[in-house]
Amino acid sequence: MSNDLEKYREEVSSFEETSAEKIENFRIKYLGKKGILNELFTKFKSVPNKEKREFGQSLNILKDMVLKKIKFLKSQNFKIEQTKVSMDLSRSGYPIHSGSRHPISIVTSKIIDIFSQIGFNISEGPEIEDDWHNFTALNLEENHPARDMQDTFFIQSNPDILLRTHTSSVQVRYMEKNIPPIRTISPGRVYRNEAISSRSHCIFHQVEGLYIDDEVSFSSLKQIILYFTKALFGKSKIRFRPSYFPFTEPSAEVDIFWGLESEADYRITKGTGWLEIMGCGMVDPNVLSNCNIDPEKFSGYAFGIGIERIAMLLYQIDDIRLFFENDIRFLEQFKSDL
Ligand code: PHE
Repeated sequence: MSNDLEKYREEVSSFEETSAEKIENFRIKYLGKKGILNELFTKFKSVPNKEKREFGQSLNILKDMVLKKIKFLKSQNFKIEQTKVSMDLSRSGYPIHSGSRHPISIVTSKIIDIFSQIGFNISEGPEIEDDWHNFTALNLEENHPARDMQDTFFIQSNPDILLRTHTSSVQVRYMEKNIPPIRTISPGRVYRNEAISSRSHCIFHQVEGLYIDDEVSFSSLKQIILYFTKALFGKSKIRFRPSYFPFTEPSAEVDIFWGLESEADYRITKGTGWLEIMGCGMVDPNVLSNCNIDPEKFSGYAFGIGIERIAMLLYQIDDIRLFFENDIRFLEQFKSDL
């Protein structure tokens, strides 16, 4: 009997096959219903009592060896199969999905590229702002009715802390720390307490630009905006409409002639062919003094562009909410435009 056991133990420990079929045969041979171990356990019942303990222990050891062996060989087999797969050079490759950038990032970097080519640098500031940088320094005194133009999320009152309503706050911070000539653009996220609809959202993005030097005139402003609209839209017909911003004087709204070629052109331009794309103006002397720049010596212009609006135009998107829902089916469509 113990000879048999010895023989089986040797067989188990020297068994080295790794093919799935041979392992399975080995398993059936030892652990199957009519396998060696079952047979031995049946014999166990008829073994004299005094030998039972020793025989039982040997059987358990053998069973344990078989189980461990099978587990080990199966894991070897798995590794071998895996290398076989990776070595199959004729297999077609796994598709690697390339990601895509968010349309807002794409448009922001396009705008940044256009302005960096003519010497503008990039400046950034906090999204949580104080009253001074968002309003007061920009000529919007407390109780100024124009504050109503930008419904604001206040986080704290007295002193007032708020979510910035425009990136003009960054320009104030930049002017406070730098001396002219200043040529900077400030891209970023802004917040207004607006009802969410297909056309407006409580979060959106802007790029604002600022140029201050000793002889900056309204005609330089017109020139730069023409350069920008040509570079971004390929359109060179623009018009300036008088407008009002507390921080610029004079102020203007810029329209580009979009054209009236398709039905969509009629819809987005409300049948006029013209589209409003940005606000701009000459920086009000009060704003310069608030930021410690001498308005007698320096003048400058500023402009502000809403990025969502531009992205909607460029990609013909008709609902602003799509930018914030981050639905993969929407985002995937911008793969080609990295
Ligand atoms: N800050 C203005 C806005 O958010 C845009 C603007 C910037 C207008 C600079 C004129 C000059 O509406």
